Amino acid sequence: MSWVVRLATSAALALILTGCGRSAGPAQHAGQLTVGFAQVGSESGWRSAETRMAQDAAKQRGVILKVADGQQRQENEIKAIRSFIAQRVDAIFLAPVVSTGWDEVLGEAREAKIPVILLDRPIETKDAGLYLSAVAADNTLEGRVAGEWLVGRLGGKACPVVELQGTVGSTLVANRKKGFQEAIAKAANIRIVRTQSGEFTRAKGKEVMEGFIKAIGGANICAVYAHNDDMMLGAIQAMKEAGLKPGKDILTVSIDGVPDIFQAMAAGEANATVELAPDMGARALDVLAAYRKTGQAPKFVQTPSRLFLPDTAAAEYARRKGLY
Ligand code: AHR
Repeated sequence: MSWVVRLATSAALALILTGCGRSAGPAQHAGQLTVGFAQVGSESGWRSAETRMAQDAAKQRGVILKVADGQQRQENEIKAIRSFIAQRVDAIFLAPVVSTGWDEVLGEAREAKIPVILLDRPIETKDAGLYLSAVAADNTLEGRVAGEWLVGRLGGKACPVVELQGTVGSTLVANRKKGFQEAIAKAANIRIVRTQSGEFTRAKGKEVMEGFIKAIGGANICAVYAHNDDMMLGAIQAMKEAGLKPGKDILTVSIDGVPDIFQAMAAGEANATVELAPDMGARALDVLAAYRKTGQAPKFVQTPSRLFLPDTAAAEYARRKGLY
């Protein structure tokens, strides 16, 4: 069962909210809401935008947002959550770097009656009452949108694909792969010939792509599927340095929708991106506000996964560069 389905089936439970009672609020900021945000890190343009937009949204709503940068390590995020509990914040936002190993610390938050809202990545737990709500995309759908675009674009042409995966240990990554594979399953002409993690960073994406080109030759790669735009931007650089024309010799499809990928699309060096909404913090603050008012919250707030192509790239770049 996918996490979306699991969440949907437990939606009724969410309304009862057995474990997530309202907090008494932090002693040090009477009258003003304080939220602790355990953030993954700053590995990508999308991630930095998510943090900044959450800070802006909090400011607009008069909420004190304390952001802890987990630097890609679960133990740092756990430490941050414990510190937020000790500070008696009103709520905790968690963008979990990996999917498992959260039960104990989220149990402590529940014990302290501090509601937790998950942002952008799912967790694996048997106890859905450990968190109030999750604001995220359907990651399988993101992969499927990317794969369907490639199938349509190729129209039957044989195509060996290399895949740049995100951080290992995250269900988001497994689902982005799964959705893509589902989409290409019926297209016998498309097959994934190499898969490696580029850890969601531009530098690692470049390094991994250089390795792919060296191992199998640029002429034997027809398309790159990257789990985020930053890795794709690194891969584009690697293609150029190898004398290849990204977007022409090798097709590209990635996820996020950061300004730089639109710039690359406008320059003809990238072909497609699937947007991941960066304003998860604002959406989570709205869920929290409604919960504090009504005692109810949706278990899953799904953000859209829209495909963008070069035809709108210049306009999208202009629109986004100030926002990110
Ligand atoms: O969890 C969302 C992913 O994390 C984004 O797609 C990626 O850019 C980020 O690092």
